[in-house]
This record gives sequence, C-alpha cells and structure tokens, in this order.
Amino acid sequence: MSATELERAVTEVLIEPEALQHRVAELGEEISGDYAGRDLLLVGVLKGAVFFMADLMRHLTIPCEIDFMAISSYGDSTDSSGVVRILKDLDINIEGRHVLVVEDIIDSGLTLSYLIRNLEAREPASLEICALMTKPERREIDVPVRYVGFEIPNRFVIGYGLDFAERYRNLPYVGVLDPAQLPAGP
Ligand code: IMP
Ligand code: MG
Repeated sequence: MSATELERAVTEVLIEPEALQHRVAELGEEISGDYAGRDLLLVGVLKGAVFFMADLMRHLTIPCEIDFMAISSYGDSTDSSGVVRILKDLDINIEGRHVLVVEDIIDSGLTLSYLIRNLEAREPASLEICALMTKPERREIDVPVRYVGFEIPNRFVIGYGLDFAERYRNLPYVGVLDPAQLPAGP
C-alpha cells in the first residue's frame, strides 16, 4: 500500500481497523450486560473520543443517552500540563444518573482525574470510565478505569479520533506518529 499524504507521519500501524472494531464490539457487549436495567448516560470527552463513542454506542443494546464535555489539556504539545479547564460543560444534569465517561486515551491520568473529581461533585448515581487506550507506563496519578480497550506502549499515537495538533483524526487505524514531527523535548 502506498502511503497517502496523511500517512507519511505514521511510522507504524499499532491497531488495525478490524482490531478496533472487534474490541469496541466486545466492550459494547460487556457494558450492555453490566448496565442492564439501568439508564445509562455516556459522557464523551471531546474531541478525541468521538469516533470511539459513536462506534461503541452502536454495540450497546440498552437504552442510553449521550452528552459531551470539552476540556483543555495539551494545546498543541504532547505533554499534559496538569492544568485543566472546562471549555464546554455538559448540557444534562447528571445528579442521580448512571454516568460512563468515554475517553480516547489515558496518558498521565491528570486530565481524567480532574474530570472525575468535577463530575463526582454533581452526585451521579454511579460514575465509571471507559477508555479506548491507556499507556500504563506514563501514569502519574491513579484513575479507576472500569473498561479499557487496549494497553499500549509509551508512544504518541494518532488516528481513529486521536490527533496531533488537531490533525490525523481521520486515519482509520491507530498509528505511531513519526517522532520527527514532535517538538524537541525540554
Ligand atoms: P493525560 O492527562 O496525560 O492523561 O492526557 C490525556 C489526553 O491527552 C487524552 O485525552 C488525549 O487527548 C491526549 N493524549 C495523550 N496521549 C496521546 C497520544 O498518544 N496521542 C494523542 N493524544 C494523546
Ligand atoms: Mg482527549
């Protein structure tokens, strides 16, 4: 396969489209079983989780609603600052609701740990996390993740919703970004 203009930044395909779909279907089945008889609210973290969440929903066999939050984490860099700001809040009141936060990837854990504390204060009936990927090596703060799609090594990845400086979200697979694209370290 010849690399398209978009694909020149990818050094390695980490998770093929078929593997993504297979795992997302498994997660959907597991979540449907766990939440049977409860009304579920999926909270997607913009923008990276959008592709994952759309696919995951199609595999849920229980009634559910969706809402979104946008929080700032990295800017155009690739390291979490620990400074988190809500750019767009939920439309729905989550008090008494069963909330499942859907995130693309957990790196240091700083972003999600802030988000969870914020959401917990709104007194949902339950609050769990579903992340497509996690990088265990990079974790700085412990976050209780109930559902994980893939554990991946400490590489900067793009595609299937994940970006580098807002680009590459439209790659159909998860790939490793060519380190030459990254800004030089501190
Ligand atoms: P954390 O606060 O360090 O856990 O960062 C989490 C956020 O950083 C994720 O929601 C992503 O938006 C972004 N992020 C972390 N690692 C990657 C990556 O490898 N590729 C793209 N975005 C990433
Ligand atoms: Mg994100």
